[in-house]
Amino acid sequence: MKVELAASLLWAATACVAPPETLEPRVLERGMVVCEHELAAQVGRTVLEQGGTAVDAAVATALALAVVYPQAGNLGGGGFALVVDAAGRARCLDFRECAPAGASGARVFDAEGVRHPDWLLWSPHAVGVPGSPAGLALLLEECGSGRFTLAQLCAPAIDLAERGFAVDGELHDDLCDKEDRARLLRSAAARERFYPRGAALERGDVLVQRDLAQTLRRYANEGAAGFYGGATAASIVAELERAALALPEGSRVGWVTLDDLRGYRALWREPLRAEFRAREVISMPPPSSGGIIVLQTLALLERLAPSAKTFDAEYAHWAIEAWRRAFAERAAVMGDPGFVEVPVDELLSARWLDRAHASMQDRATPEVQASDLHEGSNTTHLSVVDAWGNAVALTTTLNSSFGSGMLVEGAGFLLNNELDDFALGDGLRNQFGLVGGAANAIEPGKRPLSSMTPTVVRRAGRVELVLGSPGGPRIVTSVAQVLLRCLVFDEPLESAVRAPRLHQQWSPAETWIERGWPAEFVSELRGRGHELDERVQPFGRVQAIRVSPDGSVEGASDPRGGGAALGTRQR
Ligand code: DON
Repeated sequence: MKVELAASLLWAATACVAPPETLEPRVLERGMVVCEHELAAQVGRTVLEQGGTAVDAAVATALALAVVYPQAGNLGGGGFALVVDAAGRARCLDFRECAPAGASGARVFDAEGVRHPDWLLWSPHAVGVPGSPAGLALLLEECGSGRFTLAQLCAPAIDLAERGFAVDGELHDDLCDKEDRARLLRSAAARERFYPRGAALERGDVLVQRDLAQTLRRYANEGAAGFYGGATAASIVAELERAALALPEGSRVGWVTLDDLRGYRALWREPLRAEFRAREVISMPPPSSGGIIVLQTLALLERLAPSAKTFDAEYAHWAIEAWRRAFAERAAVMGDPGFVEVPVDELLSARWLDRAHASMQDRATPEVQASDLHEGSNTTHLSVVDAWGNAVALTTTLNSSFGSGMLVEGAGFLLNNELDDFALGDGLRNQFGLVGGAANAIEPGKRPLSSMTPTVVRRAGRVELVLGSPGGPRIVTSVAQVLLRCLVFDEPLESAVRAPRLHQQWSPAETWIERGWPAEFVSELRGRGHELDERVQPFGRVQAIRVSPDGSVEGASDPRGGGAALGTRQR
C-alpha cells in the first residue's frame, strides 16, 4: 500500500513525461528491475513505466533502498555503477568511500600501543567519507535521460521514509544478529530507531524515518551540496565526535571532517572489457578487485576445461585453483589506482594466464604464493534494463550489515565502516578474512580495495546479462559462478543463480562450500586435496537480468535473500 503511494506520487510529478525522443524504444520488449527489496524494485519499475531509462530507475531504486533496506541501502556508504548503453558505450562510476585526510595506520592503536582491530568495525576510525550521494547525483546528471530531476527520483524514497513501511522478516532477523545488534546498540539514535521498545523492530511494525526524509529533502533540493555541506554534514561530524567519546582519550583524532565531506568526488573509470564465448564481458576496474578476478577466472577456465559440459567436481577444482591464484594477486598488488599502480594489463595478459596455468595441477595447491605468478551481512546490488537496451549494474554498501551501526542523530542514516576494507598489515585479516599489503594500506584520501563486481555481458550488439552481488570477497566468486553457468553451460538464469556455490580466496587455504552439492562432488574435491569448510551460511545474493535474443527479459533475485525481479510492459 505504501508503495502505491510512492508510485502515485512519482506519477503525479511526471505524468506528462514521454520517452526521450532521441531513443528508439523498440530494442527490447520490456524493462526490468531486480534488487533486494520489493518496495525499492517497485519504485524503479514505476520510473521505467513513466518513461525513465535504466539510469533514472537505478537512481530511484538505490535511493529507495536507502530507506527500506538499512542493512545495506545507504546514503552514508558508497559503491560502484556500471552503465552500458544500447550502442555498447560503457562507463564505470566509482563512488567508493575514501579515507579522511587525518587517517593513518595508527588509528587502530591506543596510546599504550595496543592494537584494536575492532575499532575498524564500529568506531569513528571505521568510517570512510560517504560516496553514494555524490555518485547518484553524478550518475543522473551525466547518464540520466534528462526527463527526471533528482528531486523527482528522491520523491518515492522521501515518501517511504515519511509515511513508513512495514518491517519485513529479514530486517527483523538482521536486527537480532548478535554482532550487528551490538554495533547498533552503541549508537543512541540507532537504538531508538531499531530497538524502540528495548527489542528489535518486529515484522509488520511500521518504520517511520522523518529525519531521513528531511535529509533526503535537502539532497533532493540542493543535490550533492545538500549532503556534503550544511545541516547534514554538520550532523555527520557531530555524530562522529559523540561516538569518539567511547574511545580512549589519546585515540580521538583522524576521522571524517567537514573538509573531507566538502572535498569528496565520485570518479569515472574506464571499464574492463574482455571477449568470452562470443560475448563481451564488461566489469569494474580497480579500486574493485572484482572485475580483474572475474576476467582471470573466465580466461583460465577456458584454457583448463574448454569442453566441460557441466559444473562438475573437476570444473570446480579448476575454478578453485583459479581463484586461489587470482586472490593471491589481489592481496599482493591491488589497491586504489590513484595511489598505487595496479598492473591491470599484466594481470589480464596471456603471460599471467600462462604462468597461472602452468602452476596448476590435478590436486589442490594450497601453498601457492602471489610471487609464484608474478615476475616482477553488507552490500546490495541492483540490476536494471530498459526498453531502449540500456543497462545499469549498481552495487552499493555500508560494508558490514548496518555499517558501523552509527546512525547520524538528526539526519537518520547509518555511517559505513568501509575503512576495514584496507589491509591491516602483519598478516592480520579483516572481517572477511582478507589479508593484504602496502598496495591496500590506508592513506589519506585513498579508497579501500573492494570486491564489488557490477558486470554486464553483451552479445551480438546488445545487452545479454546484467548482474552483481553482495558478499565481500564472495561477490567475485558468486558473480563468476553465475557467469560460467550461463555462458559456458547455458543454464537458465534462475537455476544459475540458485545453484550451490563455492568460494576460495587464497588465504585462508580452505574452500567454502554451500550445502546442496551432490555427495560425490564433495568427495571428489576432497580426493583432489581440497580442504572444504561446509559450515558456512549461504553466501552471495546475486541480482541478475538476462535478455534473450528475441528481446524478452528475465530477472532473477537470489533466493538466498528476499528481493524481487519486477518487469515492465514498457514499449
Ligand atoms: O567493497 C567490498 O568489497 C566490501 N565492503 C563489500 C561488503 C559486502 O559485500 C558485505 N556483504 N555481504
